[in-house]
Amino acid sequence: MTPTQDTTVQDTPVQDKPAWQALVEHRRAMGDTSLKRLFEDDPGRFDALQLEAAGLFLDFSKNHLVRGPAGDDTHALLVELARASGVERRRDAMFAGEIVNPTEGRASLHTALRNRSERSVMVDGQDVMPDIRTVLARLRTFSERVRSGDWTGHDGQAITDVVNIGIGGSDLGPLMAVEALAPFAHERLSMHFVSNVDGSHLVKALKGLDPATTLFIVASKTFTTQETLTNAHSAREWFLAGGGAEADIAQHFVAVSTNAQAVSAFGIDTDNMFGFWDWVGGRYSLWSAIGLPLMLSIGADGFERFLDGGHAMDEHFRSAPLAGNLPVTLALLSVWYTNFRHCRSHLIAPYDQYLHRFPAYLQQLTMESNGKSVHMDGTPVTISTGPIVWGEPGTNGQHAYFQLLHQGTHVIPADFIVPLESLNPLGEHHELLLANCFAQTEALMVGKSTDEVRREMRAAGKDDATIEALAPHRTFAGDRPSNTLTAQRFDAFALGALIALYEHKVFVEACIWDINPFDQWGVELGKQLASAVHADLSAGHTVDSHDASTNGLLNRAMRARGLLAGDADSSQQG
Ligand code: F6P
Repeated sequence: MTPTQDTTVQDTPVQDKPAWQALVEHRRAMGDTSLKRLFEDDPGRFDALQLEAAGLFLDFSKNHLVRGPAGDDTHALLVELARASGVERRRDAMFAGEIVNPTEGRASLHTALRNRSERSVMVDGQDVMPDIRTVLARLRTFSERVRSGDWTGHDGQAITDVVNIGIGGSDLGPLMAVEALAPFAHERLSMHFVSNVDGSHLVKALKGLDPATTLFIVASKTFTTQETLTNAHSAREWFLAGGGAEADIAQHFVAVSTNAQAVSAFGIDTDNMFGFWDWVGGRYSLWSAIGLPLMLSIGADGFERFLDGGHAMDEHFRSAPLAGNLPVTLALLSVWYTNFRHCRSHLIAPYDQYLHRFPAYLQQLTMESNGKSVHMDGTPVTISTGPIVWGEPGTNGQHAYFQLLHQGTHVIPADFIVPLESLNPLGEHHELLLANCFAQTEALMVGKSTDEVRREMRAAGKDDATIEALAPHRTFAGDRPSNTLTAQRFDAFALGALIALYEHKVFVEACIWDINPFDQWGVELGKQLASAVHADLSAGHTVDSHDASTNGLLNRAMRARGLLAGDADSSQQG
């Protein structure tokens, strides 16, 4: 099989399939039937449009889904689209270790990393589970030594600070998860994350740290990423300048990578390297050794609970019928809004301060995966694919961007994510958090008509002129859809399940759109050009090999940095 062939590619363009056409017709027939009306006409809606799996509960009743007999039931029609798109076949291919990432000729087996069953997972005729278990055991031994104080810095003191240097999938996942599970963190260990090549990030992170008690994790799948290697080199200089010797580096620098050669070339002993494999995508790598910061923070048992949660969601995804399948349902709703109701973005609103980096993590997961405009076979897509994903925790967002959700011209479907129980019970805080979360989904849906506003204002004693002037501004169209996802509390297990839920959602969307969610060629051009631009930035003479804007910016920057003194090039004005 060549890298561009894949037995799982769809045979007919998705938009030509009868299942897609049925949805086009269904959407037309539905017209502007509002959510409010759907609830008024159907008292059983909440009970019917909900799902539960791996400790997560989804209420998806506040969506534009008509319930009706076969052929007139939105969810059933969407499920038919999933079936016609070969979702089950591609799902099984992914779990089985087939090449589901044909442009890189790879399997995608993050599910094997959290395979807690006795099942073997074969890649190229070999079971990958023994190697996965070996690395997990090494991670456990190492993290237990660091946590207990048995692994010390060069002068015998226990490690107090861990700095993870990585970017993208080698940063966002562990950072998000360490933050999410902060209540379970080891008391002595402070976790720090440095990703940006902006020196300020490293300088800020290292401020106040003692090199003798600091452990660096250099995390990079490829170990070629410019930002990570630049930060790692500067961290090493900081360590050496702070009293460490070359011989001490082994106690203070460990690596997580698939590239042993590059790790060794950097100067880290491969005995202090934790490996993973090319069939783990960067944005799916939190479950691998890339999760080391999380294991150090919450302990190996906690990390295994996290894997258990992911595995529980995997078991649900691979065995539940499509209609009762949580990730499939989230994906179908996304396709429904993206392709049939023309929404362009999707909000993630965690009502949980510990999940404050979850939207940023999901941005990489969803937009690096499904920001694609060619199908698996290389033909251009003629339908919209991955929506723009964004978000911030509630209730903060309510006092910022929620205005646009309620009264703006864009309809933005939203996921509200909230634990029913707080990890920090404090007075009435959690009741207020829950009340705000549920109230927002209600307000977005029901809105407030101009007549209601008039009545309210009249009751408040306002005169007619004021009422007529203000009523349009105080009217809410409503009819904004949302999902609400709850867990009893977001502990390690629930977080694992939540992440796996979204991973599979993204995968199912990609199956339907017939795109490859596992490659990321779109990030390459910027990397290539950055090398050329970097060389030009220290050219010492005016540059004219780019477009006029880029030349102008380069020359202006060189002049500002004193590298072009006396040069009379016109672009110095730029
Ligand atoms: O540039 C994008 C990317 O390749 C991501 O996919 C990846 O997560 C990130 O860079 C970091 O890559 P690495 O772990 O190889 O340093």
